[in-house]
Amino acid sequence: MKKIILILLSIIVLIVVGFLVFVNTSYDVRHEQSYPELAASTDSAVIARGKYLVYGPAHCASCHTPMDKMVAVDQGADIPLSGGWSLQIPPGTFRAPNLTPDMETGIGSFTDGEIARAMRYAVAKDGRALFPFMPFQEMSDEDVVAIISFLRSQEPVKNMVPPTEYSFLGKALLALGAIGPEGPKNTPPKVVKKDSSVVYGKYLANIVANCAGCHTERDLKSGEFIGEKFAGGMQFPPDNLSQGYSFVSPNITMDKSSGVIASWTEESFIARFRSGRVHKTSPMPWGSYSRMDEIELKALWRYLSSLDPIQREVAQTVFEPGEEIP
Ligand code: HEC
Ligand code: HEC
Repeated sequence: MKKIILILLSIIVLIVVGFLVFVNTSYDVRHEQSYPELAASTDSAVIARGKYLVYGPAHCASCHTPMDKMVAVDQGADIPLSGGWSLQIPPGTFRAPNLTPDMETGIGSFTDGEIARAMRYAVAKDGRALFPFMPFQEMSDEDVVAIISFLRSQEPVKNMVPPTEYSFLGKALLALGAIGPEGPKNTPPKVVKKDSSVVYGKYLANIVANCAGCHTERDLKSGEFIGEKFAGGMQFPPDNLSQGYSFVSPNITMDKSSGVIASWTEESFIARFRSGRVHKTSPMPWGSYSRMDEIELKALWRYLSSLDPIQREVAQTVFEPGEEIP
């Protein structure tokens, strides 16, 4: 009997040690994803569109500016994208790098293809898989080019952001391929015409502004979508940015009994977005969205109004420090 227990214990120890060695020797995978053939432009209209996207609906600025400048960015200042946002979560400490054209610390040495690949495939310049903070895979060619063109047009700022650090869990996710390159599921469009139509609203809500990514219930560990789209219920437990608060996203379908905007009008929807942040540490990038113009806000409203109403009660969206999400 004793012998059997010893043998079993030895097997367990071997498996554990084997897994530790496996993770530590194989997490550092470099992916050889090909580069999208997109090239930056110096056309001022293209650069202006890129700037609008970066500080507005695509909200790159809400992460790629220094954390002590976030309030200023929220209030409309064009702070350079010199990096600095960092989020500490179980897989590691993730840091948003410097996206100004500085040669050593920014994207000065990146090719257009390297920047485009990060956005389309979630693969960094060095081939590392990027954690899925940036689901812009199906952004149109025209908009990706506009963003790269704007990034190149900025003044270079020297600011060394320390690299992302993975915990053992993060390394295990990388080694097992759970964090890996993530390409577009559909062929990205060349152009999506900007107007206040449902088609453009759909593009904004699902891709550029990614309302769907937060207003749909998801598995907190895998990120997998488990709820009805736009019916809310995604949980945001306290993190190093939320000052102890937790959040749950509301249902933004037009269901009369449970949809938060069902009783709003186009005018009140636009006014709510213009007024920006109400809850200081809400994860929603209200400041960036407050820069969206009327055409885009109308498109969003019309798209959300066109969706099937889904009945799903989200009783509370803001939780005080210490308060449990039921
Ligand atoms: C929610 C926060 C967030 C938003 C929004 C965001 N980023 Fe990032 N970005 C990050 C983080 C964090 C990393 C590093 C991730 C990692 O190390 O796995 C990153 C990495 C990158 C990289 C990779 C650089 C390299 O090493 O190759 C590029 C390029 C980039 N972001 C561009 C953008 C652009 C362009 C936008 C807007 C269209 C954007 N990001 C929006 C947080 C964000
Ligand atoms: C990073 C996650 C995130 C993203 C992206 C996001 N939201 Fe939210 N949203 C939340 C959370 C959490 C709340 C609840 C806290 C609050 O009201 O700020 C919320 C609240 C709201 C509300 C209710 C506001 C109120 O005053 O009652 C509306 C409407 C809304 N979001 C619409 C949108 C739309 C439209 C988009 C895309 C343009 C979007 N959200 C993108 C997380 C997000």
